[in-house]
Amino acid sequence: MPGKRLRSQDWFGRDRPDYYHFARRAALRSEGFGGEIFDGRPVIGICNSWSELNNCNLHLRTVAEAVKRGVWSAGGLPLEFPTISLGEMFMRPTTMLYRNLMAMDVEESIRANPIDGVVLLCGCDKTTPAQLMGCASADLPAIVVPGGPMLSGQWRERRLGSGTDGRKLFDLFRTGQLSEEELQEIEGGLARSAGHCTVMGTASTMTSLAEALGMTLTGCANVPAPDSRRLVFAENSGRRIVEMVNEDLRPSQIMTRKAFENAMAVDMAIGGSTNAVVHLLAIAGRLNIGLRLDEFDAVSRRVPYLANVKPSGEFLMEDFFAAGGLPAVMREILQYLHGDAITVTGKTVRENVADAPCYDRTVIRPLDSPLHREGGTIILRGNLAPDGAVLKQTAASPDLLQHRGPAYVFENYEQMRQQIERDDLPVTKDSVLVMKSCGPQGAPGFPEWGHIPMPRVLLGQGVKDMVRISDARMSGTSFGTVVLHVAPESAVGGPLALVRTGDFVDLNAASRTLTLAVNEDELERRRAAFVRPPLKHERGYGRLFLEHVTQANLGCDFDFLRAL
Ligand code: FES
Repeated sequence: MPGKRLRSQDWFGRDRPDYYHFARRAALRSEGFGGEIFDGRPVIGICNSWSELNNCNLHLRTVAEAVKRGVWSAGGLPLEFPTISLGEMFMRPTTMLYRNLMAMDVEESIRANPIDGVVLLCGCDKTTPAQLMGCASADLPAIVVPGGPMLSGQWRERRLGSGTDGRKLFDLFRTGQLSEEELQEIEGGLARSAGHCTVMGTASTMTSLAEALGMTLTGCANVPAPDSRRLVFAENSGRRIVEMVNEDLRPSQIMTRKAFENAMAVDMAIGGSTNAVVHLLAIAGRLNIGLRLDEFDAVSRRVPYLANVKPSGEFLMEDFFAAGGLPAVMREILQYLHGDAITVTGKTVRENVADAPCYDRTVIRPLDSPLHREGGTIILRGNLAPDGAVLKQTAASPDLLQHRGPAYVFENYEQMRQQIERDDLPVTKDSVLVMKSCGPQGAPGFPEWGHIPMPRVLLGQGVKDMVRISDARMSGTSFGTVVLHVAPESAVGGPLALVRTGDFVDLNAASRTLTLAVNEDELERRRAAFVRPPLKHERGYGRLFLEHVTQANLGCDFDFLRAL
């Protein structure tokens, strides 16, 4: 192999007459390799988040095999290794509690082992940001291969988007409009294959943003999981990472400020999940980019929403891919992107997408005929959220984007669960549901509880949406006029903790404000009476999390993991 001495040579190199180099070569040969593998070829780690406790990533072993073909054919040595995986549907209380743990696992696994470059296999929501955070900190050549979205769901003649349609149909079941038998039929057809959720939820958003950041091959993110072209991309990524090692092309050279500005613009154009805000802030924090929450809003005002995919739009990820996928969107908004940003292809964004075709303008709208003239996510501020809050305006009801109503307060998630089905819950369509103690520290772990279910009493009246506010996150597959990530959170004494039932709350998306209509003297009295709840974890990882997690507006990474 040409070029400079490889990092892996410090473990295996025959040029070091050292017992441990000999012993490590012997150890690796126990896996059935011949002595020729120590000829100075790059060692490529394949960081696999496969797990049977993560249905979305279940096919990643097959993807890893395709990556290995590529690595071998390019003259590298592929070595696959596992990390913790984060299965969105199974982990309690929330995968977000463990995103930083996975990021540490990825970072330290890369750093501690004889690896020259790494291919990252991800898919389900948090697995992508965790791998990007870890590889950013380790800063060895890295390329991402997402697992892709699952097949569209199906029930009788209907195509279903996991998450989004599941919630809508479950509300029909709650109100007696679907039978138990029908619900069971839906259950069997909602998720028909491995792969992540097939709407523009957090997984589709974050894998698309990995591509927008320049960390995947062009067009790789949206290929459906069972599609054979997924494996072709995997093999090509295996070949490419060997070249990247030889070029010494590292994440810190790709995930630059320009790349994050590109990712924010793409996030707005695809109507990405609100969770993207938290994750991009966290990844950027690993690289000392200095990304701020308000930058998302500035981009949102400029870049229109184009991708007609649920939950904000009509179609599913299979349709988005068939229409041209992310490259078609990036080509459409090229004027808002840094076309000269470098990517894992070794080429610029402009070179990658300048000729990207779009095959269906109903799915990917042209810039002069957007679905919304602004981007999907906006940032709110005001006396209820001094450090910001987020709202996905494209998934909200237009008539609620300017709204004043009386608060109905749930002190925590458990109280909400107990009360939401009450037929005598004293709320109207104008009420504003407020839920506390669901933030990074309060829940703890910042769970996706913010999509407070519609009260059954209102569903019975035909009311489908209302303003809901919390310091929680929301699944990217969810929808509604839902204000999230209120910071500072209530558990640390943020103003959300001071809201009482009957207080009036003003939401104004146009002016980006969220206001509690209570005078400052009264708020000061309530603030003086606030008692911080006790920590919910006294030992182990939970304690580490509570002692070091940052607030939502900083990305919820641990303070000691951010770049110095
Ligand atoms: Fe894994 Fe939705 S549950 S992406």
